Amino acid sequence: MGLQVGVKGKQYPERLTTSYVRESDTFGRDEDKKKVIDLLLSSDASGNEMCVIAIVGMGGIGKTTLAQQAYNDSRVEQHFNLKIWFCVSEEFVMPMVEKSIIEAATSSPCPKFENPEQFRVILKKNLTGKKFLLVLDDVWRAKPDHREFLGQLLEYGARGSKILVTTRNKSVASAMHAIPHHLELLPKDDCWSLFEKHAFRNGSSNADPKIKEIGTKIMEKCKGLPLAVKAIGDLLWSESNVERWTNILKSNLWDLPMEGTYILPALRLDISV
Ligand SMILES: Nc1ncnc2c1ncn2[C@@H]1O[C@H](COP(=O)(O)OP(=O)(O)O)[C@@H](O)[C@H]1O
Ligand SMILES: [Mg+2]
Repeated sequence: MGLQVGVKGKQYPERLTTSYVRESDTFGRDEDKKKVIDLLLSSDASGNEMCVIAIVGMGGIGKTTLAQQAYNDSRVEQHFNLKIWFCVSEEFVMPMVEKSIIEAATSSPCPKFENPEQFRVILKKNLTGKKFLLVLDDVWRAKPDHREFLGQLLEYGARGSKILVTTRNKSVASAMHAIPHHLELLPKDDCWSLFEKHAFRNGSSNADPKIKEIGTKIMEKCKGLPLAVKAIGDLLWSESNVERWTNILKSNLWDLPMEGTYILPALRLDISV
C-alpha cells in the first residue's frame, strides 16, 4: 500500500446527493438538528418569516447529512405539503430547479414547454397554496438573480414555505439573505463512534489496545471532520497490522496546509494498495 499526496483540480468526486439518510449511520448533531428543524417550522409573530436557512461549513463536515436528517424528520414531514430535494453543486441552473419542483408537485416527468414564461405559469400553479420545503444542496455561488428567484418561489408558495441551502461559502448565505447555521466540527466522542463503525468489524472493545491507541491519535488528526473519519476508518477496516496503522498516523500528509481548499489535507489521500 502506498500513500501519496495528490492535490487535484477536484478535491473529491462530485457526489449527487439525494434526500435519503440512514439515521443509524449518523452520530451526534442533536443540537444542530434541533436548531435547523426549529427554523424550518418557525414563523414569527409579526409575520416576518425567516424563509431561507443556510447550513454553512467546510466540505465534509456534514452539511448534507444534517439537511437530510432535517428533511426526513417526522415533524418536518407533517408540516410541509410538498418537499423537494435538489442537488445544485457547481452550477445553479434555475430552470432545473423549476423542473424538479414541477416533477415533485405533479409526481410525473415535467413536460417540455415552449418558453420560460410557460414554465413559470405551471410552476406558480403547482406551488400556489402549498407550504413547501425546497432543499438546495451544495450551492457554490449565488448571484442576485438567484435571490430574486428564491423570493419568487416563496411568493408563489403558501406562508411558512422554506428554502434550506447548504453551502461551504458564507457569502452564498448572505447573498441569499439566509439565516446561517454554522456547522462546527463533530465532537470527539461522535467521531470515535463513527470511526469505530468503519474501522472495526466487531467494535473496538476486543481490538488490540495498541491499535486502539493509534486509532485515537488518528482521530485527533481528522480534526472533527466526519468525511475524513469515515475515509480513514474504511481504509483501516478490519486491519490488524499495527504497522499499517502506524504508517497512516505518521504520514506527513496530515501537516499540509488547508488554505484555500475548504477541506482537510487528509482527504487528499491518493491510496494505492
Ligand atoms: N453526524 C454524522 N455522523 C456520521 N457520519 C456523518 C455525519 N456527518 C457527516 N457524516 C458523513 O461524512 C461524510 C460527509 O458528510 P456530508 O454531509 O456529505 O458533508 P458536506 O455536505 O458538509 O460536504 C458523509 O459520508 C456522511 O455520511
Ligand atoms: Mg454536501
